[in-house]
Amino acid sequence: MPAIYASAPGKIILCGEHAVVYGQPAIALPVVQVQTKTTILAKPTSAGGQVRIIAPSIELDTLLEELQPDHPLSAAISLVNQSLGVKSMPACEILIKTTIPIAAGLGSSASVTVSLVRALSQFLGHLLPDDTVNKIAYEVEKIHHGTPSGIDNTVVTYQTPVFFRKDNPIERLIIQNGFTLLIVDSGTSSATVKTVSEVRARRDQDPDKYEQLFKQIGEITLQVYQSLCFGDLTTDGELLTQNHQLLQKIGVSTPLLDDLVRTALRAGAAGAKLSGGGGGGNMIALVSSDRIMPVSEALTAAGAKGIIVTGISSSRIGMK
Ligand code: PMV
Repeated sequence: MPAIYASAPGKIILCGEHAVVYGQPAIALPVVQVQTKTTILAKPTSAGGQVRIIAPSIELDTLLEELQPDHPLSAAISLVNQSLGVKSMPACEILIKTTIPIAAGLGSSASVTVSLVRALSQFLGHLLPDDTVNKIAYEVEKIHHGTPSGIDNTVVTYQTPVFFRKDNPIERLIIQNGFTLLIVDSGTSSATVKTVSEVRARRDQDPDKYEQLFKQIGEITLQVYQSLCFGDLTTDGELLTQNHQLLQKIGVSTPLLDDLVRTALRAGAAGAKLSGGGGGGNMIALVSSDRIMPVSEALTAAGAKGIIVTGISSSRIGMK
């Protein structure tokens, strides 16, 4: 049997993070410049039907039976087996390789799960439909992130820009004019589970203030949504920068992220904000094509550790 493999992209949140956990809308985009690839090789001669899992990015090389049932990889495998009614796994070697940095807001956990679920279900003879892949990935995201909104697994599963609102049907985004985003690594990692639970604690202390801030973020997201559909870079940029200011108010920015946002704006970005959980991780800058170089250079001089240039093309064709 030849090796089976499946890939999944990373993702970035354009706007609406944190507020999305409380029912407000958010917009996320797939990032194909970073990927996870899971390869599964049958090992029919292996003793006792063993399943070996190798994931170099987390320095894991172990047998499935040695993982706790609530380990995200073990949970993902069990959920695939349950969905397909598989009682015992055939012996195999599962290799999970990702170029997505961990705890950087680029969706590494969702990407790993989606690629694993797709490769495994194919290996077991029944490629699961996207909706089931998404449901499984959401369950595993809960293990990683506590109370996630579900946006990461959704954008990674469907690999298309999404306008997302918890417990609502997925809306694929139709983008009128493409745009360029710089995804900027601040060089400090941050666990989303931590910032999400800290925001929850602060909201519980002062629900009115936080509900108001979440609502304002939701309104900005709706405006970005409309603006993306009409393709106005200046308006989009200003809205993203306003979103950053609200994220500062809910306490998830850092001096370094603020500095990178200011640097991007000074160098001519149309807008900039932190992206994802905050407390470190990535920020994004919306730029016109002639500002890619100057903004990137200014950010690097200000301490950015890596920049991904990602283009979102016009998507009027082929969308549902
Ligand atoms: O995975 P991250 O760091 O991009 O953050 C996800 C976005 C949050 O809104 C902070 C959490 C969530 O589950 O939506």
